[in-house]
Amino acid sequence: MSDWKKRDLLTLESLDKDEINHILRTAESFKEISTRSIKKVPALRGKTIASLFFEASTRTRTSFELAAKRLSADVVSIHSSSSSVLKGESLIDTARNIEAMRVDGIIIRHSSAGAPRLLSAKVSVPVINAGDGAHEHPTQGLLDIFTIKQKKKKIEGLKVSIVGDILHSRVARSNIWGLSKLGAKVCVCGPATLLPPCIEKFPVRVVTNLKEALAGADVVIALRIQLERQKERFFPTLREYSREYGIDKENIKLAKRDVLIMHPGPVNRGIELSQDVIDGPRSVILEQVTNGVAVRMAVLYLLLQKEETNESIS
Ligand code: CP
Repeated sequence: MSDWKKRDLLTLESLDKDEINHILRTAESFKEISTRSIKKVPALRGKTIASLFFEASTRTRTSFELAAKRLSADVVSIHSSSSSVLKGESLIDTARNIEAMRVDGIIIRHSSAGAPRLLSAKVSVPVINAGDGAHEHPTQGLLDIFTIKQKKKKIEGLKVSIVGDILHSRVARSNIWGLSKLGAKVCVCGPATLLPPCIEKFPVRVVTNLKEALAGADVVIALRIQLERQKERFFPTLREYSREYGIDKENIKLAKRDVLIMHPGPVNRGIELSQDVIDGPRSVILEQVTNGVAVRMAVLYLLLQKEETNESIS
């Protein structure tokens, strides 16, 4: 099952189609483990993984920890709020000290784009990006693609519309790269102020009209308005944003009848998605969360199980 060459998982931009499919196939084989009464296999017994979160997280941190534990690895969690980072220790020194305790892999979330790549150049163990600034969130992209593939049985040719705060979204970037490499037709939609200036360099269609994005969509991924990253005003009020870009049970009728409604979480209920759409029959938001564990099991397994032979990359 392994035959994985790369040491780190930093981006989906740096993976090719075969590598993405390799992770998806591995996740498929791990999914069943979480349905057992004893949710544990010995695949990573004896391995220790450090989980460094310099930003808040519910889904990613918990699901990486569950994934590691279901593979029998030990996990140590380091939170910036209770670590020596508060005393001024640098990210690199923090990571080197953790590596000196002989951990076998490091998972990192950081507010600065590029922090995982910097770390990977300074340590010799696999580094997994759990979200870096507005850059990438590769395991979220992988779990989204996994969920779409489970539901639609394919990715190629699907119209996938990503709606909302594209500018600040690492989830959007990972999904754009991953989905387009697998042949999906990706459309991004949001107010012009929430589209990155370099968006034309990405393999996407760009629209500012929500109806255009929803028309005929197979999948709609709504993104959270990231108010914590907005130091200036990108739209007049949340109410106006929601009126123009909020997805509800009326405008979603423009999409295909079997459209999938997705969201990486956390959701601002009633802003990017109406309550009835979040909890409605087309929503797969909680299935994304469930699948996140299998996808992260696959990533940990592929990177750590053969770490002795994996070459450094990306
Ligand atoms: N989707 C996601 O990254 O959620 P968390 O911030 O809760 O980890």
